[in-house]
Amino acid sequence: MQKIRALTVLLGFLFVISCSEQNDTTVTPTPTGTSTYNDLWIPPTLTGTTFNLTLAKSTKQLRTGSATNTYSYNNTTFWGPTLIMNKGDLVKLNVTNNLAEATTTHWHGFHIPAVMDGGPHQMIDASTTWSPSFEVKNNAGTYWYHPHLHEKTKEQLNYGAGGLIIIKDPVESALALPRTYGEDDIPLILTSRNYTSTNAFDISDRAYGDYQLTNGTSSAQVSLPKQFVRLRILNAEIERGYNLGFSDNRTFYIITNDGGLLDTPVPVTRVKMMVGERVEILVNLGTDADGASLDLMAYNSGQAFGFPGGEPNTSGNFGSLLNNKDFSVLHVNVKAATPTGITALSAKLTTNTYWTNADVTNSRTITITGGQGTTAFSFDNNLYGETKINQTIKLNAIEKWTITNNNIFGHSFHIHDIQFKIISRSSGAVGTHESGWKDTVYVPVGESVSVIAKFDDFASSTNAFMYHCHFSNHEDGGMMGQFLVTQ
Ligand code: C2O
Ligand code: CU
Repeated sequence: MQKIRALTVLLGFLFVISCSEQNDTTVTPTPTGTSTYNDLWIPPTLTGTTFNLTLAKSTKQLRTGSATNTYSYNNTTFWGPTLIMNKGDLVKLNVTNNLAEATTTHWHGFHIPAVMDGGPHQMIDASTTWSPSFEVKNNAGTYWYHPHLHEKTKEQLNYGAGGLIIIKDPVESALALPRTYGEDDIPLILTSRNYTSTNAFDISDRAYGDYQLTNGTSSAQVSLPKQFVRLRILNAEIERGYNLGFSDNRTFYIITNDGGLLDTPVPVTRVKMMVGERVEILVNLGTDADGASLDLMAYNSGQAFGFPGGEPNTSGNFGSLLNNKDFSVLHVNVKAATPTGITALSAKLTTNTYWTNADVTNSRTITITGGQGTTAFSFDNNLYGETKINQTIKLNAIEKWTITNNNIFGHSFHIHDIQFKIISRSSGAVGTHESGWKDTVYVPVGESVSVIAKFDDFASSTNAFMYHCHFSNHEDGGMMGQFLVTQ
């Protein structure tokens, strides 16, 4: 058994070496205008109802010189395969941990029983397999998976452990939308990293990367057909926000939030995404010339948002080459249309029925605390405790949570189990870009944000769900609470 495992690891290692990107010579943090790009890596897909994932060490050639030590699922060298699931399917996931330490695997955004959720309590010890199974109840959309072991989340994510999940359903499938994966339906996982002088990831306390990685590709480029193209974008950062737009300021259309389709496409020229958030956008390349090019940019200069979630400092760079800068996250080359390409925008996507104040059966307030001096950020002056239950919710309650941030820093607030509707922001209107079902919401300094969700289907008197800041350094520091949903 040990021998077989050793051989598997060795074969995996050789596979990784032979598949690594060898052409990367660019390390500039702001590659707009450079002529050296690397082809965007598109994660392979897994389909069906049984999904096998193996987390292990790997390596990836990210820069000139030494390859970088990474973690990945299924030897993909960085991140992991995209899982494609259908709403209503009963799925089983076999997650094997071939690291030398424990991990967990969380299905971010999924509405499933707490014991299947992959939070800090569902430990997968080294050399063991965890096999949760559940019904996929979420709407079509873009979700993700990542480690969630307390005090280890940042490190394991930083090494590259994570991946996308695409859910399909009949509502989305009936629409004329681009859905040929890797062709006109493109996953984009945005993050950045710091490197040591020997090209190892710097996993010290620096939360803001100096070098952008799009799907784990530095200075990424992709050729996209002359038609409507769908980009499924995930902010998988440790801490940076992205204010995204195209280099020619063209209008594009937001069609989903974290939990699925918006009622209608929302036209914008910029979309802000904080850590953990997803949007799917449609961009029309139909009137571009063959061979034309443009960039999907992070317009972060002068944006407090761009850096941390980032108040109060809008002028400095907080020690990162990318903070407070505009930089390309994807260079796009326009190529010929595909025969079945989408050439028109659907005016109507779906009809969502959102919760309102009138539906609320219970309200609670969560206050962001800590963060001064050497004190860690926390909620309600409570750091995460493995056995500490911070909130108890009645099954089927429709709750309004108001998250209040009179602190010194913005945060990305995520609740497990449910999708919520953002109903108010104390600073003004809720943005149209975040008007759909959400599981993660940006809470800037000086603001209170109220969200409403129904806590249905899954009750347990022992297994808790998490709510936390999705900046993994803050989460590891204890900015996380637990709630039980009880009968
Ligand atoms: Cu994406 Cu509790 O996390
Ligand atoms: Cu935080």
